[in-house]
Amino acid sequence: MLLPSKVKMVEVGPRDGLQNEARPVPAEIKIQLIEALADAGLKAIEAGAFVSPKWVPQMADTARVLAGLARRPDVSYPVLVPNMTGFEAAVAADVHEIAVFGAASESFSQRNINCSIEESFQRFGPVVEAATTRGIRVRGYISCVLGCPYEGEIVPAAVATVAGRLLRMGAYEVSLGDTIGVGTPARAQAMIRAVSGAVPVERLAVHFHDTYGQAVANVTASLELGVAVVDSSVAGLGGCPYAKGASGNVASEDVLYLLEGLGIETGVDLGKLAEAGRFISGHLGRETGSKVAKALAGKAAA
Ligand code: HMG
Ligand code: MG
Repeated sequence: MLLPSKVKMVEVGPRDGLQNEARPVPAEIKIQLIEALADAGLKAIEAGAFVSPKWVPQMADTARVLAGLARRPDVSYPVLVPNMTGFEAAVAADVHEIAVFGAASESFSQRNINCSIEESFQRFGPVVEAATTRGIRVRGYISCVLGCPYEGEIVPAAVATVAGRLLRMGAYEVSLGDTIGVGTPARAQAMIRAVSGAVPVERLAVHFHDTYGQAVANVTASLELGVAVVDSSVAGLGGCPYAKGASGNVASEDVLYLLEGLGIETGVDLGKLAEAGRFISGHLGRETGSKVAKALAGKAAA
């Protein structure tokens, strides 16, 4: 088993995590969270989304969050952008990286961004072109790569088609999202094998949710195939407003503990990451969703 020697952790908590909170989280708290995550050594921290505030009100303050950050030159702060309206807002906020987000399932595409997969590419086209012209990097997301809340199982070929289109359109990386967390390692590997026929594995990221407790196993299975970019969310924050029952993203602390155990370099400090997780869990008045963070807290208290 040849695992990558280094992995890039992409922190999605401030966006994917907080987009689902019933109580709005103030911009000031989001800023403190993002700064704490950067202090922990994370180099890619999703800072928000320029989406319709009617659809996702939790992200309506993204411009304020970006304006309040002391942005570090070696950290990227990508934001989600669904269309040109969002792109213009991102440019006004001086964003250097955006993410367009599609789906491998027609029904999820309709529920999440109110258009078909084909229409979504028509929307992404001008966004990616305008971004490329301005030197703004574009990441591509695909939701529902292992299952859809409306359609059930998704075939790997459907994911490969969408992934190939995102790459050809100009995405530098494609993140494969198990939005409802139904995947298991064998299915994750079969899907990655199919997708790597369309997108080189070096340009793939994985994005697991932990609904069925399989996320860490799925990360390991992805590493075994050479995937070296892993999305995760501090304290396991998250869910998805358009995927009922989806639990949080895999917790960043749990992913980091796994990677450390495998001797894989990340540049991220587990103690400081857990501290960022404690900060946001404290604000939300909830126990962390990270098993590793719980174990570390228990050890410290003993
Ligand atoms: P629509 O209603 O079809 O859009 O929504 P529209 O173009 O007809 O516009 C309707 C209204 O929204 C107009 O305002 C527009 O100005 C406004 P009105 O005239 O009614 O006052 N509008 C916007 N406002 C701000 N920013 C914008 C914007 N665009 C239009 N960018 C749209 C289409 C895509 C906008 C909508 O469906 C939307 O915002 N969806 C976002 C959903 C979302 O954020 N979902 C969560 C992120 S995806 C995810 O979590 C999965 C992922 O993590 C991977 C995984 O976990 O697997 C990535
Ligand atoms: Mg997600």
